Amino acid sequence: MTQIYTTDHSASVLRTHSWRTVTNSAPYLLPHLKPDMKILDVGCGPGSITISLAKLVPDGHVTGVEYVPDPLEGARALAQAEGVSNITFQEGNIHALPFEDNTFDVVHVHQVLQHIADPIHALSEMRRVAKEGGIVACRESAELSWYPDSVGISKWREVTELMQRAKGEVHILGG
Ligand SMILES: C[S@@+](CC[C@H](N)C(=O)[O-])C[C@H]1O[C@@H](n2cnc3c(N)ncnc32)[C@H](O)[C@@H]1O
Repeated sequence: MTQIYTTDHSASVLRTHSWRTVTNSAPYLLPHLKPDMKILDVGCGPGSITISLAKLVPDGHVTGVEYVPDPLEGARALAQAEGVSNITFQEGNIHALPFEDNTFDVVHVHQVLQHIADPIHALSEMRRVAKEGGIVACRESAELSWYPDSVGISKWREVTELMQRAKGEVHILGG
């Protein structure tokens, strides 16, 4: 399956993503979490959401996957620094998740489906590895707007859109 993620995993990108936690970015999950749940966070990036999930399931386990190894060492270091051990970071492509059917209580993505080649297939993969009665959850960007007008941000949007179209991203512009 073609990989089309336009943004890389450079320090500035990871810094932008690593302020995110389940509380500030995926609060819809909070009422559903139970301490012994097994959770998968796909396209985990720097792992800050993944780690915050692990803190909320102290008797469970959270797995973060990324299609390239680049951000994973940093994610492991962050988990260690925060004293979180019920967590695993590994490589895995959302289009062919390396897990058995019926494995996780919660399968989650945050700002990932908009950056991949086949979001419908990805959702069916997420459903496949979720347990019967489990939860498949996602949060994605639909549109970006800003006020007041900014020449710099407009230029960023123009360049980003050109890059995304050239790489074949399905959904243009987002987190
Ligand atoms: C915008 S970042 C979001 C990172 C994290 N979920 C967050 O919200 O902080 C999108 C992530 O999806 C990952 N990604 C892109 N294509 C993927 C694929 N085919 N399988 C798994 N992850 C993928 C990227 O490497 C990137 O880290």
